[in-house]
Amino acid sequence: MTGALESLLVRRIALGGPISVATFMADALGHPDHGYYITRDPLGRTGDFTTAPEISQMFGEMVGIWLADCWLRLGAPSPFTLVELGPGRGTLMADALRATARVPGFHAALRLALVETSPALRQRQAAALHGFSPNWYDRLGDVPDGPMLLVANEFFDALPIRQFIRLPRGWGERMVGLDDSGKLTFTVAPGGVGLLDPSLYDPRIAPGAVAELCPVGIGIAGEIGARLAAHPGAALIIDYGYCGPAIGDTLQALRAHKPVPVLDGPGTADLTAHVDFTALGRAATEAGGRCHPAAGGAVNQGDLLTALGIAARATALKARATPKQAADIETALARLTAPDQMGTLFKAIALTSPGLDAPAGFAPRETP
Ligand SMILES: C[S@@+](CC[C@H](N)C(=O)[O-])C[C@H]1O[C@@H](n2cnc3c(N)ncnc32)[C@H](O)[C@@H]1O
Repeated sequence: MTGALESLLVRRIALGGPISVATFMADALGHPDHGYYITRDPLGRTGDFTTAPEISQMFGEMVGIWLADCWLRLGAPSPFTLVELGPGRGTLMADALRATARVPGFHAALRLALVETSPALRQRQAAALHGFSPNWYDRLGDVPDGPMLLVANEFFDALPIRQFIRLPRGWGERMVGLDDSGKLTFTVAPGGVGLLDPSLYDPRIAPGAVAELCPVGIGIAGEIGARLAAHPGAALIIDYGYCGPAIGDTLQALRAHKPVPVLDGPGTADLTAHVDFTALGRAATEAGGRCHPAAGGAVNQGDLLTALGIAARATALKARATPKQAADIETALARLTAPDQMGTLFKAIALTSPGLDAPAGFAPRETP
């Protein structure tokens, strides 16, 4: 059976021609009536995917320690805005705030700002964070200016990407059109891309290769950089991704924790793409912020969490746990940090005001 959003997209394409992958992704995830995030809470075992904060409280606690440490390095500005982009169920922020409850002055100084488009998830966040009087915003641009600490976990991977296909000469843009039976299918609009990194015009790149660009993500990273140039602050961005430019089709759809075809039932499956950390860092730097590590790198999630003390936290939690709980804590620790689990696929960059040295976990000697 064709869903409501699929019918809308088919009609739009029949009338106006193929749409970009970014337009398809933006509607599939964020259509005001039928978008995936607008209509549901997709997280957890009964949903479509699980994120690091939902695996263990230790993840949000480490982020909390990072945030409080940055606040102290900044000279403890008061008030300051604590921003989370895409807070999901509010679990990360609730754990971060519990872990920082004893940092003198931190809670009194913070104004909590949640950037979230999903009404269903805003409700979950309200329940998780009711003691902190959050304000919600549709976009970062609406959050008041001033000293800022920001965190974004698995937010940038949910933003729409454009995809480009290597043709025998140059690049074309991958589009979503209709096949002979009127079903959604991928097509290519040839010619005139000009937006990709110059290295991707190397004639040795074989026809059919895919390159990706996330204009919305680059725009938000630039906005963060501009804010950090104007006011003291720091931002932590964690996601799965790579340090580009790179070749590869990373767009994927998940339903009930299983991969499904990307065009299958728009609005009913999660769509994500790997994040190009180099592109985000460059955008923030060009806007006046500073990126750690500099020069296009990123820190592995496992190394970051280890530098922040996750192993000691696991030991402390296990000391008060039943044998079953202790085994669960060990499993979660491995899941978050082991190289063959989330430890290296997930990476982080820190963006700061220009005067701030590398935050915890990002000093060159701590970077592998
Ligand atoms: C993959 S979930 C991650 C949730 C949470 N950060 C976590 O780690 O559990 C993506 C989050 O970003 C939100 N989101 C997606 N696109 C957004 C957009 N364009 N603006 C604001 N929030 C968005 C979703 O509603 C959801 O809260």
